[in-house]
Amino acid sequence: MGFKAGKKIRDAIRRDHEFMLTTTKGEHPLVSAWGDGDYITDIEGNKFLDFATMISVYNFGVNSSKEVRDAVKAQVGRLMHAAFTDFYAEEPVSFAENLMKMFPKGFGRVFFSNSGTEANEAAIKFSKIFTKKQYILAFYNSFHGRTLGSLSLTSSKLTQREHFGPFNSTIHVPYAYCYRCPFGKEYPSCGMECVDYIRKYPLSKEVSPKEVAAIFMEPVQGEGGYVVPPKEFVKGIREIASDNGFLMVADEVQSGYFRAGKFLALDNFGVEADIYTMAKAAGAGLPIGITVTRRSLGDTPMGAHSNTFGGNLASVAAASALLKYIQKNKARLENDAKAKGAYIMKRLRKMMDDYEIIGDVRGLGMMIGVELVKDRKTKEPAVKERDMIMTECFNNFLVLLPAGVSTIRIIPPITMPMKNIEKGIDVIEDAIGKINRARKG
Ligand SMILES: Cc1ncc(COP(=O)(O)O)c(C=O)c1O
Repeated sequence: MGFKAGKKIRDAIRRDHEFMLTTTKGEHPLVSAWGDGDYITDIEGNKFLDFATMISVYNFGVNSSKEVRDAVKAQVGRLMHAAFTDFYAEEPVSFAENLMKMFPKGFGRVFFSNSGTEANEAAIKFSKIFTKKQYILAFYNSFHGRTLGSLSLTSSKLTQREHFGPFNSTIHVPYAYCYRCPFGKEYPSCGMECVDYIRKYPLSKEVSPKEVAAIFMEPVQGEGGYVVPPKEFVKGIREIASDNGFLMVADEVQSGYFRAGKFLALDNFGVEADIYTMAKAAGAGLPIGITVTRRSLGDTPMGAHSNTFGGNLASVAAASALLKYIQKNKARLENDAKAKGAYIMKRLRKMMDDYEIIGDVRGLGMMIGVELVKDRKTKEPAVKERDMIMTECFNNFLVLLPAGVSTIRIIPPITMPMKNIEKGIDVIEDAIGKINRARKG
């Protein structure tokens, strides 16, 4: 028996539509009530396997662990909010100290906020302060958030930008989206034309490198389509930043916390950024944004940037307890993300032999995307079919999220046991097979 929305669900959604402003809610009527481990359960008791980690948050299990919940409860019993930006508290500093053990040497200054977009807002402002320059380079297809500074960088979908310009001083450059190379080339024979292009055009004709504060980069593009760039591309970007005296900011909001196989996705490329931003999984289900800067960049002037809730004690308690777990289990988490990711990639690649609708399968660790196309030659995106596949999965109690134009993201908790990963992939395969057949018939 597949999913069927009952009266409670229909009423909840009707009231939502009546009272809430529209956000990004899709077609799937998931009205969550409980969560545990690999599953999220709705208000009518339907149990869904979570292959979306509730937008990349539950990397280590839905509703996090008992240790995390107990740490939050204990902190909430003592004190929830300490106005950490204006006064002092020990917990956020201990968390920052501990977090630095996960970063390359030389990182040591941390700023807390409440979300990914705020972590990036802070990084934009800090880059400008540290370099005394004003322009930012960002990539097409990128997603850095929706507040106006971060949105100036975000360039993934027009609906996200329409109505909101003019934007901050941002220059957009192409990302190495090799499946749809903006230069019509093929990797590796392309000779990384996308890297040369940045030097030859934007930095030679549009903006003086002397006026660029930073280049922002998702080590793996998330919302833009789960795009994994070649190693040379990421190294090339690092070189451009270093050669021209501007900073490299790694937006690890989605790719961090082992999602891409390592704590920092950028570590897969043998490259260090100057500023890192994190959020999502970091708070284990509570809101936190983290901006980490290289110590040698110095400090920010008093009053230049701050907020009310940064370093909130409940969020920090969750983030600290999660970090302790991560530090104890680092090797296992890395291995799990790699092994489980490899299994998922193998299954999806095998499906490519049978289902022409799959145009591309790509991933790093457990950050995996399947791009669907109407025709493998023309690569016309199969948007409607992608949505139908996701609905079919939902009706079979598997929660997924889309990415890019016609990609499905596959991001189960890293802690999900193999038997549930297999179960989820079986559901995806059945759905792809069904829509692939229907399309032909
Ligand atoms: C890479 C990246 N940066 C920033 C953000 C924005 O994070 P938030 O929604 O917490 O503001 C997201 C959210 O999806 C993201 O994926």
